Amino acid sequence: MKGIILAGGAGSRLYPMTLVASKQLQAVFDKPMIYYPLTTLLEAGIREIALVSTPEDLPRFKKLFGDGSRLGASFTYFEQPQPEGIPQAFLIAEPFIRGESVALILGDNIFCGITGFTEAVRDFKQGAVNFGYYVNEPERYGVIAFDASGQATDIVEKPEKFISSYVLPGFYIYDAEVVERTRALKPSKRGELEITDLSRSYMKDGKLKVKLLPRGVAWLDAGTPSAMHDAAAYIQTVEKRQGIKIGCPEEAAVEHGFVSQAQFEKMIGTLPRGEYRSYLETVVQRKLRGSK
Ligand code: G1P
Repeated sequence: MKGIILAGGAGSRLYPMTLVASKQLQAVFDKPMIYYPLTTLLEAGIREIALVSTPEDLPRFKKLFGDGSRLGASFTYFEQPQPEGIPQAFLIAEPFIRGESVALILGDNIFCGITGFTEAVRDFKQGAVNFGYYVNEPERYGVIAFDASGQATDIVEKPEKFISSYVLPGFYIYDAEVVERTRALKPSKRGELEITDLSRSYMKDGKLKVKLLPRGVAWLDAGTPSAMHDAAAYIQTVEKRQGIKIGCPEEAAVEHGFVSQAQFEKMIGTLPRGEYRSYLETVVQRKLRGSK
């Protein structure tokens, strides 16, 4: 399966920080925000990745990841000249998708814990798989409606009236039909193609599976300065307690065998001395000890 990271948007809610770098390049505790969704893709076994971003920011992402070979991955870059909705990424990245199934993750979405994404990607055959996450303010998101038997029956973008507490987080899996189905979408009232309309198109044809994320999974939103601070505090708390990083793509790459132990050690040698490098050195020690 291929992966797309969408790192677009005007970043107006993080102004003035976004004057110099997009939201997804801002730090969340000890690493750029985009490291988290990238690690989520790598941990799910996806290493053919397209990054879609604005013409201004794309060169910065290229500087960050290059061709991806450092992570045993391959990166392709696409410009999104105007933010016209999440599914637009499938039209822009069509030459990359090339008739395969694809997982899309939003560049500002942080997931921690046992999400089941790896199994969902591994077992995916056709149609679409979306996830449901219980939140306090569902009206801010795409909300899932269920019937009495717990079957998902509808998805509504930012509903005015309460429907349920389960919403769609920014990780979606679709089969190769995604491009054609996106082409058939009409812009919503806010003038964008909506990911919820795309998923509804699969749902209408009985081709959408909704998997609820279990309790204990953290899905963090880093869309405002305050949410960014909360996310950073969460990451810091867990990392400090465990001595294990969340959202470390280099570690995910070696854990999944995308790079060999020797390549990993060589790469570490090229990094500046500091806390991040020291951490990667502890990953090597852990692997040498053979401990998990
Ligand atoms: C978008 C989607 C929404 C989804 C959310 C997840 O919202 O439209 O369905 O629940 O991402 O972050 P937006 O960020 O465009 O408000």
